[in-house]
Amino acid sequence: MGSFRCRNITRTFSGDGVTTNALSDISISFQEGDLVSITGPSGSGKSTLLSILGTLDLPTEGELFFNGKIINQLNAKELADFRFEKVGFIFQQFHLIPTLTAIENVMAPLFGRKVDYDPKERALGLLERVGLSEKADALPSQLSGGQQQRVAVARALIHEPEWLFADEPTGNLDSETGEVIFDLLRELNREKGCGVICVTHDPSIAERAEVQVRMKDGKIIEVIDTRLAGHA
Ligand SMILES: Nc1ncnc2c1ncn2[C@@H]1O[C@H](COP(=O)(O)OP(=O)(O)OP(=O)(O)O)[C@@H](O)[C@H]1O
Ligand SMILES: [Mg+2]
Repeated sequence: MGSFRCRNITRTFSGDGVTTNALSDISISFQEGDLVSITGPSGSGKSTLLSILGTLDLPTEGELFFNGKIINQLNAKELADFRFEKVGFIFQQFHLIPTLTAIENVMAPLFGRKVDYDPKERALGLLERVGLSEKADALPSQLSGGQQQRVAVARALIHEPEWLFADEPTGNLDSETGEVIFDLLRELNREKGCGVICVTHDPSIAERAEVQVRMKDGKIIEVIDTRLAGHA
């Protein structure tokens, strides 16, 4: 299991003579197994921070460490392996492949990879875990939004990542279905010990995380660690 540390991370986007500071001098650590929410206004840098933590994007300045090892200097192949081994992603738009069944979508990250387990067996187990075993052969178009997101959660777990990064996973769902998805992430956090970082606009979801990060204008303006508050 591993911990992330951002040291003085800045991410600047330049184009058409305009420079945007998506992230400005961010320093924060996330410990293995943390359950974290990130909130903040649109454009405050939440998705950019998640992309950098997940090594889908690189900082303009500063360093990202995993278990004390600097990772934003790895080459493309090493970064792809890092993502495959350590991280699972969930997005607002589910991003399932429409022509594949639920179980095929769950196995999709393994295409072209050699693994020492039976992908189908594991995928079925995960579909069962998210309550969808009877929909294994359904196409995404035959599933509700909440069911599609549960397939996406199972897919993110196929390689047993140490971290799950979710960018507004409940943003396309009604609030009740959204809570079911967040509860599932919270249960998986407890059960499997994987860290969860969840970007959300929904305050009632954000306040159920152990660590609550608030961002504004590319900066972290508040971190509430409810575990510390309990001991104060
Ligand atoms: N690829 C890009 N090119 C140029 N500017 C970008 C790019 N990605 C993000 N930005 C800018 O960086 C800032 C932060 O964007 P980001 O997507 O991280 O915000 P966010 O907090 O996730 O917003 P939202 O709640 O709307 O999803 C914004 O001003 C955005 O316009
Ligand atoms: Mg965003």
